[in-house]
Amino acid sequence: MSHNSFGRVFRFTTWGESHGPALGAVVDGCPPGLALTETDIQPFLDKRRPGTSRFTTQRREPDAVRILSGTFEGRTTGTPISLMIENVDQRSKDYSEVAVAYRPGHADYAYDAKYGFRDYRGGGRSSARETAARVAAGAVARVVIPEVAIRAYLVELGGDAIDPAAFDDAEIDRNPFFCPDAAAAARWEAIVDGARKAGSSVGAVVECVSTGVPAGWGAPLYAKLDSELAAALMSINAVKGVEIGDGFAAARLTGEQNADPMRPGDGAPAFLANHAGGVAGGISTGQPVVVRVALKPTSSILTPVETIGRDGASAEIATKGRHDPCVGIRAAPVVEAMVALVLADQKLLHRAQTGR
Ligand SMILES: Cc1cc2nc3c(=O)[nH]c(=O)nc-3n(C[C@H](O)[C@H](O)[C@H](O)COP(=O)(O)O)c2cc1C
Repeated sequence: MSHNSFGRVFRFTTWGESHGPALGAVVDGCPPGLALTETDIQPFLDKRRPGTSRFTTQRREPDAVRILSGTFEGRTTGTPISLMIENVDQRSKDYSEVAVAYRPGHADYAYDAKYGFRDYRGGGRSSARETAARVAAGAVARVVIPEVAIRAYLVELGGDAIDPAAFDDAEIDRNPFFCPDAAAAARWEAIVDGARKAGSSVGAVVECVSTGVPAGWGAPLYAKLDSELAAALMSINAVKGVEIGDGFAAARLTGEQNADPMRPGDGAPAFLANHAGGVAGGISTGQPVVVRVALKPTSSILTPVETIGRDGASAEIATKGRHDPCVGIRAAPVVEAMVALVLADQKLLHRAQTGR
């Protein structure tokens, strides 16, 4: 299987399957001399880890990361950084039905159509276990861009949106949904409990804001900052839509409504709005970079769904095993990681071309 790498100057490759002995990432192109130990990476993995609340999969994984190469005496050496996370809580027998029949909405049929042979245990390579490796690589990216703060949170779950007027940054880490609105988080408990008890699942929308990105990162055409972000975010499992700034809503505005007026500021322009989401002409403007990601409802559900077997005969599948009733919840740290990986790459690309 090819295409397991992402990035240009700051480039990472992930490896591993859901029920293999371990998974991980190799990060190449990281500048030398940066302070990096496991303690810089582990807190981000702990945010994505499964089994931390009743609202996520009950698979118990410590997701403890080990740095196998690329650092010496707590600093990066400029050589490939290899990161490894062991899988310790596999239950492959839960997936026997996935071996013989395809889960509609999951990758089972498409993998068989392409490769003709697949590791079905826990979804194999198509499992979002792989996103643990992205989160580890994303933590390395963050040490390359200390000037940037990246924050992702859920703004909608099961069709129920937060109240933007109730946005409280401190609330994001106080509830199991990465939700900035305490009242919405309380409502979401009932929504996710209801979906799980019904053997169903729900979708979500994750928003991510990056502050401190200087003006000038990105490129005008084929490595636009927004197209790189879109590619990175669309590569996350279950993502079905990406918006930059106002996104689709911009299509319903007039030119004057959508403008981000500028005034002279203190060393940099003062923008009066940010409909563009911090990117214009593919290049950062110095405003916060705002992206939104739509995640579909989990396709592995207990409710029986019509399907076909590997033999082509009609069948019905009710997926057992341990699954996230809303994959969007644990996607928030993954979104942050992918944004960090793109921004670190863009910073190094900008430096390579301009010397700044
Ligand atoms: C954090 C996270 C956790 C996920 N957990 C599950 C899960 O428990 N069960 C499941 O069927 N899909 C889960 N998914 C989604 C599948 O991995 C994904 O739907 C599948 O690989 C097919 O790819 P696609 O949805 O991008 O087409 C999860 C996705 C993310 C981002």
